[in-house]
Amino acid sequence: MSQPSYGLLKGKKGIIFGPLDETSLGWQIAMAAHREGAQLAISNVAIALRVGKPAELAEKVGGPLIQCDVSNSTEIEACFKEAKEKLGTLDFFVHSVGMSQNIRKSLKYDQANYDWFLKTLDVSGLSLHRLIHGALAEDALADGASVVALSYIAAERTFTTYSDMADAKALLQSITRSFGARLGEKKIRVNTVSQSPTPTRAGTGIVDFDKIYEYASLLAPLGNPTAEECADYVVTLLSDLTRKVTMQNLFHDGGYSAMGMTTELLHLFHNAIENKENMRKAGFSEALIERVRKD
Ligand SMILES: NC(=O)c1ccc[n+]([C@@H]2O[C@H](COP(=O)([O-])OP(=O)(O)OC[C@H]3O[C@@H](n4cnc5c(N)ncnc54)[C@H](O)[C@@H]3O)[C@@H](O)[C@H]2O)c1
Repeated sequence: MSQPSYGLLKGKKGIIFGPLDETSLGWQIAMAAHREGAQLAISNVAIALRVGKPAELAEKVGGPLIQCDVSNSTEIEACFKEAKEKLGTLDFFVHSVGMSQNIRKSLKYDQANYDWFLKTLDVSGLSLHRLIHGALAEDALADGASVVALSYIAAERTFTTYSDMADAKALLQSITRSFGARLGEKKIRVNTVSQSPTPTRAGTGIVDFDKIYEYASLLAPLGNPTAEECADYVVTLLSDLTRKVTMQNLFHDGGYSAMGMTTELLHLFHNAIENKENMRKAGFSEALIERVRKD
């Protein structure tokens, strides 16, 4: 359901890094920021400009399209220079970027390729440091600006198929705190939004994504929020209404992160494990089967 405009970002200028197509969280964040009155630049890495639709989005929001690999400091410097020339000093930017070759190739965490692991950390975590550093070096961020990056609960709890991205998200959240503390004197806020599973290109690339999505949807009292709902939340963090919120990882997940269990899921699980064959099919080891089924 599309929201009316509240004019929350009237007069503000910012960059959204990472929209690929309509399914992207970054795409919906750009649309919501545009609706709220912001002037925007849209950015993505060269390959995504070729295979995705960032140019179409830039046209929709009436802003410049700027190529930038967020793991490349030279491109970042050029990006903030161009954004400053075209828009002026920025009031916000959004980091909506993630990539893991280990996940793409379905490599298990304990068999991760280390070159890819480093790339995951660089593109999906360290890049937030590079972007903030680059923006400050170009004097492109206004005092009172807001920086938001997208995270996932696998930074705090283990989700086996999220592989090395979990470590990248932990790094991302740590950089949020480290920079947030240092930027307080400029009244610049840095936060992450931890979104629940959402069917995007990156999301659906995770092994068992459909099952993770289903499970979260049944456990979260409000159900899984959509990309549009994520965008509505993010624009509040870009607005002046949240000017004293910083260094936080904010869960946007329908309540999932605060849940332990529901009676329905508990009963469903209990019924499923009454049968040893079901447990074997799900991949439980014989030792674990023995732990609960003595019969
Ligand atoms: N989809 C989910 O379930 C989910 C849940 C929580 C958090 N997130 C996070 O949301 C963010 C956006 O992902 P999404 O789910 O919208 O998927 P998406 O595939 O639409 O977006 C990921 C983007 O990262 C870009 N990217 C990859 N390498 C890059 C680089 N070197 N430089 C610049 N951009 C690069 C891609 O081109 C792509 O546009 C990611 O940080 C992701 O981890 C997603």
